[in-house]
Amino acid sequence: MGRLVVVSNRVPSPRERSHPAGGLTVGLKDAIRGQPSLWFGWSGQIAGRASGDPTPKRSSQAGVSYATIDLTAAQHRGFYQGFSNRILWPLFHYRMGLVEYSRDDLDTYLEVNELFARCLVPLLQPDDVIWVQDYHLIPLGAALRKLGVTQRIGFFLHTPFPPLALFGALPGAAHLIQAMAAYELVGMQTEEDRAHLQQSLDANDVKAAVIACAIGIDPVEFRSQAVAASNGPEVVRLRESMADRALILGVDRLDYSKGLPQRLMGFERLLKRFPEHRQRVTFLQVAPVSRGDVAEYRALRRRLDELAGRINGEWAEFDWMPIRYITRAIPRDTIAGFLRFARIALVTPLRDGMNLVAKEYVAAQDSADPGVLVLSQFAGAGPEFPEAIQVNPHDPDEIAEGLHQALSMPEAERRTRWHALDAAVHKVTAASWARDFLAALEREPLHGA
Ligand code: G6P
Repeated sequence: MGRLVVVSNRVPSPRERSHPAGGLTVGLKDAIRGQPSLWFGWSGQIAGRASGDPTPKRSSQAGVSYATIDLTAAQHRGFYQGFSNRILWPLFHYRMGLVEYSRDDLDTYLEVNELFARCLVPLLQPDDVIWVQDYHLIPLGAALRKLGVTQRIGFFLHTPFPPLALFGALPGAAHLIQAMAAYELVGMQTEEDRAHLQQSLDANDVKAAVIACAIGIDPVEFRSQAVAASNGPEVVRLRESMADRALILGVDRLDYSKGLPQRLMGFERLLKRFPEHRQRVTFLQVAPVSRGDVAEYRALRRRLDELAGRINGEWAEFDWMPIRYITRAIPRDTIAGFLRFARIALVTPLRDGMNLVAKEYVAAQDSADPGVLVLSQFAGAGPEFPEAIQVNPHDPDEIAEGLHQALSMPEAERRTRWHALDAAVHKVTAASWARDFLAALEREPLHGA
């Protein structure tokens, strides 16, 4: 195989390249390690432009070349905030009620995809394999084909994909589905997502090869980060501040797909219904602000501020605060140490493409005394993790029961469950994800052939 060209909206900034913040960029970084590659995408910067297309900024680090372009304020508004995050993101997480459709945003989305294509084409080499990532760039393959690109192009969706009845409600849905035909192969996280996309392809009479291919992490590296951080000053401070209480930990972008209000209410139900845990547990939710210029995210933040304050006011003692809630980002290696220390990880998205925090928690555990994962049944990681305590994240009572079960679980059962989860985390990794997807992509006949 020739060079791998990865295209994603978000490209880690130079500072993040050795320590990316999480999610897609972490998986990708682990996936492309060790092969000649170019990573192309948005610089994260907004720039004014008199006319014409931007010139990609080039750099390279640890064997990977990077090329990024700035967006104008209008492109950022229509493409990123608008069509990607006010329309596709809620729709793909089954939240039609949050979709704010605008045809102007759709037009800007298509234009920015064409811009990406025009800026990428001059950088391509004949034997490149191109791998396009996520919902921001669905029409990129078609835009590249229009410019005469004949190389193999794969696409991977990191979010869930909704059933036809929901997806079909989007104006422009047929256009997006037709754009899938430009790819030699389309990858989805789970079998359920694959089946849903297939429904939409069939309904529009579009032919495309689709596989389910779950993403993972690098469990060996993450465990060593967690072990190293365990004796670091932050984990020591956290441990001392806990005074022998059990730590329940949540780590998520502050996003409405993560089920954070229901999670706080679930923790409150635990205190209410299982009084034996009062003053014996602390719930730490780390929820760095994300997409803070989209109204729905600001509204969620206000709601969480209010809920956390209300629950603490109601249940705290003068020497015990039940909820600690942080909306700043915390460095990844510190989080690794926190995950290792936590008795329970509470990972309850209402809907999630995969959820790598669930996998990181498992990888971070001490095998002699592992903690318990309480996981939403609607996370993409669910099918790989039957040994987690799975809960319906819409029901605070079920969350409370799951927490109670986890807090009361005997050590032998914790170990048995964790061993099975850990085997799953080592079976599907970031590296196996990329290897399996790219091998399947190589097997597909070339469209141009
Ligand atoms: C999810 C998406 C990614 C996105 C990330 C962070 O994981 O699947 O494509 O990069 O969230 O969101 P942001 O809008 O900050 O890029």
